[in-house]
Amino acid sequence: MPRLCVNVDHIATIREARKTFEPDPIAAAMLAELAGADGIVVHLREDRRHIRERDCEILRKVVVGTLNLEMAPTDEMIKFAKNLMPDHITLVPERREELTTEGGLDVVAGEDYLKTIVFLLKEAGIKVSIFIDPDVDQVKKAVKCKADMVEIHTGRYTEAKTEEGSQIELERIRIAVALGNKLNLIVHAGHGLTYQNVRKVARIPGIVDLNIGHSIISRATLVGMDEAVRTMLDIINSP
Ligand code: PXP
Repeated sequence: MPRLCVNVDHIATIREARKTFEPDPIAAAMLAELAGADGIVVHLREDRRHIRERDCEILRKVVVGTLNLEMAPTDEMIKFAKNLMPDHITLVPERREELTTEGGLDVVAGEDYLKTIVFLLKEAGIKVSIFIDPDVDQVKKAVKCKADMVEIHTGRYTEAKTEEGSQIELERIRIAVALGNKLNLIVHAGHGLTYQNVRKVARIPGIVDLNIGHSIISRATLVGMDEAVRTMLDIINSP
């Protein structure tokens, strides 16, 4: 069964709505880990719309499981990651106007640039994952860039409007995961996963981490983090 890593960005989104001190994503991360989460994910965005440097720095000290820093492939973020030393980073594309990360990084188009970024991070001792669409060419290029891991973007599966569309997207994920495994990449998956749609992705063999944010945090605001995480774990771990 895959591990569950909880993205706590949206606790910080609520805090930043008032530019105050609460709710604190650190407390949310601690509660998520106590409820059984295997790791914590945060995305330090260029505009600091939710997570801030202070959050990452405290999380680095207190997270017991894995800390995964999502970041754009920029000089500023490379410098920050080298100081922070998370367990691994995930390179994601970033546009200011987007509501959330909208697509995977195009490793096919950006191979040379990404090769350098991956090199710089790995040289500093940081494991590197690249967030990619479920596409065999993207997986192969991630290997060429010497990434340690890929995170397969599950968004198109989660947005499919028909059963047939959903099956097609699930198959694309399955193929990308299998290829990643064959090419010795550690494979994660995430984006748009919910209590309703996670089961089929969790059943795909070869996925190490499921990274889930919005759905868990949404439920946590109503029933509490403990129940929200435990219910997600029950679904992921149920046969
Ligand atoms: N994986 C990546 C790379 C992401 O950028 C995000 C969103 O921050 C997620 C997973 C989690 O997506 P969601 O919030 O839809 O669960």
